[in-house]
Amino acid sequence: MSVTSSRLEFLGQLAGGLAHEIKNPLSTIKLTLQLLEEDFQKDDSPTATRAKRKIEVLLREVQHLDDIVQEFLTFARGHDLKLTRTNLREMIVELFEFLADDAQARKIRLHFDYEGKLDNLLLDATLLRQAIMNLLRNAFDALDGKDGGEVIVRARIKGDLLGVEVIDTGCGIAPSNYDRMFRPYFTTKKKGTGMGLPMVRRIVEEHGGQITFESEEGKGTRFLILLPVDPSKTGSLKSMVPTGSEQP
Ligand SMILES: Nc1ncnc2c1ncn2[C@@H]1O[C@H](COP(=O)(O)OP(=O)(O)O)[C@@H](O)[C@H]1O
Ligand SMILES: [Mg+2]
Repeated sequence: MSVTSSRLEFLGQLAGGLAHEIKNPLSTIKLTLQLLEEDFQKDDSPTATRAKRKIEVLLREVQHLDDIVQEFLTFARGHDLKLTRTNLREMIVELFEFLADDAQARKIRLHFDYEGKLDNLLLDATLLRQAIMNLLRNAFDALDGKDGGEVIVRARIKGDLLGVEVIDTGCGIAPSNYDRMFRPYFTTKKKGTGMGLPMVRRIVEEHGGQITFESEEGKGTRFLILLPVDPSKTGSLKSMVPTGSEQP
């Protein structure tokens, strides 16, 4: 092991330890704030109202910290893929059902179209669901501030490859951000953690796949995941996608 990689490993352990150390006091703070909020619940005096507003701010900030630490821990853990025969069509239908109310409230139309046999794919279903969910959440976020819009998932089997596209008609991505998209903690959102896309990329790469995107500012974005249908055969993928390409 080189000096650099052992140092990196050490830093990784340190960061993991730090995150765990932060997690416990954070949940104590959160719990105490919630109790405090309850204490003021029935008090409508100006002082109590001001206090409640401050508690709300603190709770929001604590929650944000908690999200960041949680996502860090999930990300840092790494995964052993548990490949099982998965019905991808069903998985996406279920994700859509889960998002249906939110979509309706925000006038977002959801479409799913698919081609090929998707009902018996060798995948880590939990991780792939998480990856697609992250892309869908980003697609929804991209439509914030627009009066409705469309989110489309397209899944296709072509030869040895599975392609999953998540397309939105949202705000798009500024070209100056293209090379930061998959960097941990890069976010343009007030409540963002910037861990969604790094996580998606990690999951896709653990499956031997690749993720790319193209986008037009103001018009929308399309993320494309390509996975080998059999994760032990990644050769076919390499011949189709230039390595390292993540720009349109
Ligand atoms: N579909 C999308 N449309 C526009 N911008 C996007 C989209 N997906 C991701 N982004 C940009 O990439 C950033 C990083 O995304 P992500 O890693 O999921 O973190 P987060 O969602 O917490 O900000 C987002 O803050 C946003 O600027
Ligand atoms: Mg996200």
